[in-house]
Amino acid sequence: MTAPKALVAGNWKMNGLKAATSEINRLNDLINEKGAKCDVLICPPFTLISTLVDTGAKHVAIGAQDCHMNVSGAHTGDISAEMIKELGCDHIIVGHSERRADHAESNETVKAKAAAAQAQGAIAIICVGETIDEREAGKALDIVTSQVKASIPDDATADNTIIAYEPVWAIGTGKVPTAADVEEVHAAVRDVLIDRFGSAGDNINILYGGSVKASNANELMSVANVNGALVGGASLKADDFYGIISAYDQIG
Ligand code: 13P
Repeated sequence: MTAPKALVAGNWKMNGLKAATSEINRLNDLINEKGAKCDVLICPPFTLISTLVDTGAKHVAIGAQDCHMNVSGAHTGDISAEMIKELGCDHIIVGHSERRADHAESNETVKAKAAAAQAQGAIAIICVGETIDEREAGKALDIVTSQVKASIPDDATADNTIIAYEPVWAIGTGKVPTAADVEEVHAAVRDVLIDRFGSAGDNINILYGGSVKASNANELMSVANVNGALVGGASLKADDFYGIISAYDQIG
């Protein structure tokens, strides 16, 4: 089994004005000077995508946080995967728990959005994760594996699919699961991916997200079947985010 090249992705959520362009330039400079052993992606709000793509930062890919399931039409306020792709993005996050909760997105919706992203040639970063009640009830593995199974589109391939495991209770809280808990969930997700895609399922990145920061990145990113991170708060400042990226300098 060959591990895929790791991906450290930042999800800026609803944060960032044009001045944040300086963070992309700084991040690009840091990687240029000191290197990165993983791929690096930033998903800003839609309003910043063009501005950040136009920086021409060659070490930092720019992606999106969501897309509509349709290509076009009467969907006021929504953005299609085709529109995002046209801006130069190759990655689209779908099914983040904040969207599942705030916008009542079901696995079926997430699957349709992932399919829309993939139909445009983008890679769908499909987010899954259990709530604290589900974990305490011993249901974390069931919830996460059923979300993965139900959210991957029928036509998905190993090349256009990334899974992000983000326990809801770890997002923005400073709480992180133990390495053993992360390992258990990622192993279960890997099994689902291998069932679905055969040996190609080994090459799919499974990211961990939830309170990742420079101080815990090394431990979390060293866990078996953790192939990168999806980072919220600590992705907003280039120096903090680079601290997570550089965890890969120590990981074989
Ligand atoms: P935090 O890193 O702020 O906990 O957010 C994680 C997340 O939701 C990334 O998508």
